[in-house]
Amino acid sequence: MKVFVAGASGAIGRRLVPKLIDAGHEVVGMTRSEANAEALRAVGASAVVCDVYDVDRVKRVVQQTKPDAIVNQLTDLPQSLKPRKLKEYYSANNKVRQVGTENLLVAARAAGVKRFVLQSSAYWYSPATANGHPVGENHPFYLDAPEPIGTAVKTMEHVERMVRHSGLEAVILRYGMFYGPGTWYDADGDVGQQMRKRMYPIVGKGQGVFSFVHVDDAVDATVKALTAKPGTYNVVDDEPAPMAEWMPVFAEALKAKKPMKAPRPMAILAAGKAPVQWMENLKGADNSRAKRELGWQPEYATWRRGFYEVLR
Ligand SMILES: NC(=O)c1ccc[n+]([C@@H]2O[C@H](COP(=O)([O-])OP(=O)(O)OC[C@H]3O[C@@H](n4cnc5c(N)ncnc54)[C@H](OP(=O)(O)O)[C@@H]3O)[C@@H](O)[C@H]2O)c1
Repeated sequence: MKVFVAGASGAIGRRLVPKLIDAGHEVVGMTRSEANAEALRAVGASAVVCDVYDVDRVKRVVQQTKPDAIVNQLTDLPQSLKPRKLKEYYSANNKVRQVGTENLLVAARAAGVKRFVLQSSAYWYSPATANGHPVGENHPFYLDAPEPIGTAVKTMEHVERMVRHSGLEAVILRYGMFYGPGTWYDADGDVGQQMRKRMYPIVGKGQGVFSFVHVDDAVDATVKALTAKPGTYNVVDDEPAPMAEWMPVFAEALKAKKPMKAPRPMAILAAGKAPVQWMENLKGADNSRAKRELGWQPEYATWRRGFYEVLR
């Protein structure tokens, strides 16, 4: 299959492209920079230099390459995430998700592309009616989350809907929190560095339930998404875990001191209400549909093993 990867040079794209080639696919990677294009060519992909906001060029490159499938891994997030700057970060990310996806869909339809695979997130679910269990794909999104998170959630919901109703075979992959090389949760990543300085505390009672996924498992699910039944899938590991549980393990794997605890008011003062409320309300996601329908089994079934391998 010929696969056009938008976001081919990002945290997931970099690891996805060689795996697609190993699986026998012909890959065209899109990037804005000639240096990243060279890196893509070096691993055996073709590369196109293109800004997704230039819709005419996007149409042209998709028409010229005539892929069978487009995989959209576009994001615009910083390597270091300062909670007080969330509004700025999310407005850039919302734009690339919304306008970027619109432009890719226009190009896909014009060029007769069959399948569209979209990066989404498994941490935007509503805390309402979650019943203390990890939530499945039919659970509603957290549309009334405090700003600026609410707008990010609404954007993602809208983008998913656009793709689902595009007339193409739509596969939506709601990834958990990425950890592993090149992510925030790497030893040199943002969370790794903050954890070492004891600047990433357990918030409140630490009850917010995170669902993680190792980037290589996310990549594996993405390769499978090219031939699987269209649908929406939580791509998360088998062990959703509250902050109070995973954070001490992450710190130990890093050989850092135990994380501090921040009572809710102190956390709000430092980071703002939105990220604190979002974190406290995370419920974790259920991966049984992805296992069943994608035939996917995470190699890192739990972050307990994954953190030690990644952070040692
Ligand atoms: N589920 C999760 O936990 C999750 C999800 C996403 C991101 N993150 C985190 O966010 C951090 C950043 O990683 P990332 O991979 O998202 O970011 P990144 O490394 O900056 O990659 C973003 C990708 O999107 C492309 N892109 C962005 N704007 C574009 C535009 N206007 N036109 C064309 N291409 C464009 C970039 O291409 P060029 O720059 O080459 O042009 C790049 O390939 C990481 O630490 C990662 O862990 C986490």
